[in-house]
Amino acid sequence: MLNFKDKAVELILAEVEGLSEEEINSAIEVPPSYDMGDYALPAFQLARVLKKAPNIIAEELAEKFSGNEYFERIENAGPYLNFFINKERLIEETISEIKEKGDNYGSSDMGKDKTVIVEFSSPNIAKPFHIGHIRTTVIGNALYKIYSFLGYDTIAINHLGDYGTQFGMLISAYKKWGDREVIERDPINELLKLYVDFNAAAEEDESLRDEARYWFRELENKNEEAVELWEWIRKISLEEFNKVYDLLGIEFDSYAGESFYSDKMEPILKELREKDLLVESEGAYMVELEDYDMPPALMMKSDGSTLYTTRDMAAAFYRKEKYDFYKNIYVVGSQQNLHFKSFFKVIELMGHEWSKDCIHVPFGMVSLEDGTLSTRKGRVVFLEDVLNKAVENTTGIIEKRNPELENKDQVAEQVGIGAVVFQELFNQRIKDYVFSWDKTLSFEGETGPYVQYTHARICSLLDRGDFDIESEVDYSLLNSENEINIVRNLYDFPKAIVDAMEKNEPFYITRKILDIAQSYNTFYNSTNINNSEDEKVKRARQLLSYATKEVIKTGLNILGIKAPERM
Ligand code: ARG
Repeated sequence: MLNFKDKAVELILAEVEGLSEEEINSAIEVPPSYDMGDYALPAFQLARVLKKAPNIIAEELAEKFSGNEYFERIENAGPYLNFFINKERLIEETISEIKEKGDNYGSSDMGKDKTVIVEFSSPNIAKPFHIGHIRTTVIGNALYKIYSFLGYDTIAINHLGDYGTQFGMLISAYKKWGDREVIERDPINELLKLYVDFNAAAEEDESLRDEARYWFRELENKNEEAVELWEWIRKISLEEFNKVYDLLGIEFDSYAGESFYSDKMEPILKELREKDLLVESEGAYMVELEDYDMPPALMMKSDGSTLYTTRDMAAAFYRKEKYDFYKNIYVVGSQQNLHFKSFFKVIELMGHEWSKDCIHVPFGMVSLEDGTLSTRKGRVVFLEDVLNKAVENTTGIIEKRNPELENKDQVAEQVGIGAVVFQELFNQRIKDYVFSWDKTLSFEGETGPYVQYTHARICSLLDRGDFDIESEVDYSLLNSENEINIVRNLYDFPKAIVDAMEKNEPFYITRKILDIAQSYNTFYNSTNINNSEDEKVKRARQLLSYATKEVIKTGLNILGIKAPERM
């Protein structure tokens, strides 16, 4: 599609010597409001090269440029050179592109032949899948879709927490007090109870800890009974997790979790030893990171058992070998910043330059209104409950507002879940936030249902108005300020996707589709569309509505949210 910013760069490049295309491109800004232009070049940078005052430069350039087919005006305001896009051209370019590409508008092949791994969700088996996991799950899924949409070969990995000394505890506890039938009825809660009880008992009786260590070692040594129990725990846990993934419509390409690497750590330890990176301390082995202001990275405990970090090292090497990734992304909370920084560093010290392609994408913490989440204190909000409650609540609203709606259950599910997901993706990921039922279940204002509703409203408008995508449209009839504002947002959509990818930050897309919905509703509320003054105008407005709907749908889908056609 025509890139107006590039056109501005070309113009400047031809007039100004001593600045590269790239420098000009990065100097050009988007002014805070459209009456200051669509793009602006602050002349401060040029002052250095041209040795003149910025406002003189801007003035002289403005005199040289007259309007052309891309810009209706190029003017200076003090030290800024402001470019005003030719609106007719903008509208025609944008709408015809959307008409042609439909829900592929904004997609690209920039990622061709590059593999991106997005590791996300990764809950611990036998533990609750709670509200604290929603962010990695939802942000990770959005990133997975964003990269796919831009043409990358994308692999979604769920690095399940299915290994470690705590499984020694679970096995011991089960052998003492466990009852298979009771557990199968309510796996996570019962397993959690066993775990908590075991910890309490071990406070009293230290020898229980040895027992747990014994059973973990047996598991590592492939003792049949231990392996059988562990496999069963893993299976029933995954069945619980899958309920949530089904509700969210999330699929993984791989569930290779920590246990998958239990036999893949030895070569790494060997390489570390060979490269003289492993230091012994009281029987344990670690890599010193003092020079980088980090505590040592522990690789093996004194009893010979490996750790979370060792398994992560093995996973990174395995992924490099198997997928030859371009990027290896970990969507994991900011509490683990040090963990990632530290093992990425170790890989670098081993001499593997691909360490730089391992990227930790952190996010802030979720807390509850009455304090922090705490599994041990029973302050847990299960993710499945949140999703179910959101759907239930939506069902209530539909019953009140639109009881005749077809497929009520399906719509309630799409909207209820959409509300939760949209809220998760609405803010910069790094911000902490407090989970609130009220906010999650709200439909007003800047919410997922508001955007979904805009889409559904357009679908029914077009149906009622017998919209025909094939009919010829005179784009010059779309010339009101409201119409132009919608198109500006639609034009910006592809860039929002690329920004989201480059910064691993889905909220650029969330905000953009909200802008699109808001600008459309302003237009909708003030304009007759199906009852336009004449047939030609009607067709143009319908096509604009259609384009809006396509882009909203695409944006929602990339975020992992459905776009029902009726609500
Ligand atoms: N299972 C871990 C947890 O729940 C998250 C795993 C993150 N991924 C990783 N490769 N370490 O905290």
